[in-house]
Amino acid sequence: MDFKDAVMQRYATKQFDGRLIDESLLFQLLDIIRFSPSAFNLQPWKIKIISSAKLKEKLKIHSNNQLQITSCSHLLVFCANTELELLVNRIEQKLESLGMPLDVRDPYIGMIRNYISSMDPERRLSFAREQVFVALANAVNGAKALGFDSCPMGGFDPAAYSEALFIPDEYVPTVLCAIGYAADTPTPKWRFPREDLFF
Ligand SMILES: Cc1cc2nc3c(=O)[nH]c(=O)nc-3n(C[C@H](O)[C@H](O)[C@H](O)COP(=O)(O)O)c2cc1C
Repeated sequence: MDFKDAVMQRYATKQFDGRLIDESLLFQLLDIIRFSPSAFNLQPWKIKIISSAKLKEKLKIHSNNQLQITSCSHLLVFCANTELELLVNRIEQKLESLGMPLDVRDPYIGMIRNYISSMDPERRLSFAREQVFVALANAVNGAKALGFDSCPMGGFDPAAYSEALFIPDEYVPTVLCAIGYAADTPTPKWRFPREDLFF
């Protein structure tokens, strides 16, 4: 599907029909998410993939009982990865393996480390969360482009999710994306007019 059509036809699906997304299609979506842009290419996200009906049932009560949770094919739990130093180390290793000369690599990595070290824990989390939402955008539009539906979801209890899914402290559940095949009918889409948004 053309990108513009995917953006225009995608909608926040309220109920799915329970059909499973084929694994190869799912992996295509995971790659679309994986290739999302992020500041310094830090990719500060981890995404838990839930397909177990039992687990989804358990999570529903921590998600305002929203029907998407149990009717979707897979529930993607987008977590912000706050261990930014470890990510910088990985980037440094990657740039080294790509042959970036030391005199270019060192100042670049130093600049990122400097930037990160100036952040308090709260800013660190909000920085990582900002990047997660870019990946979320890729997820919802990517799903439609691949021929299925999605719902981005902020209506859930992050602490309860962490506990139920045994998510380590450094990963903070930030937003959900339920994916599957829609069983509802989209309401007419509306947005503020162009002149109100662009100045
Ligand atoms: C960060 C975020 C959180 C959202 N949380 C929920 C949610 O918990 N439940 C839900 O049904 N829709 C949720 N939505 C969907 C929005 O309500 C929806 O995108 C908006 O009303 C526009 O409708 P459309 O996506 O169908 O065009 C969320 C969307 C975003 C981007």
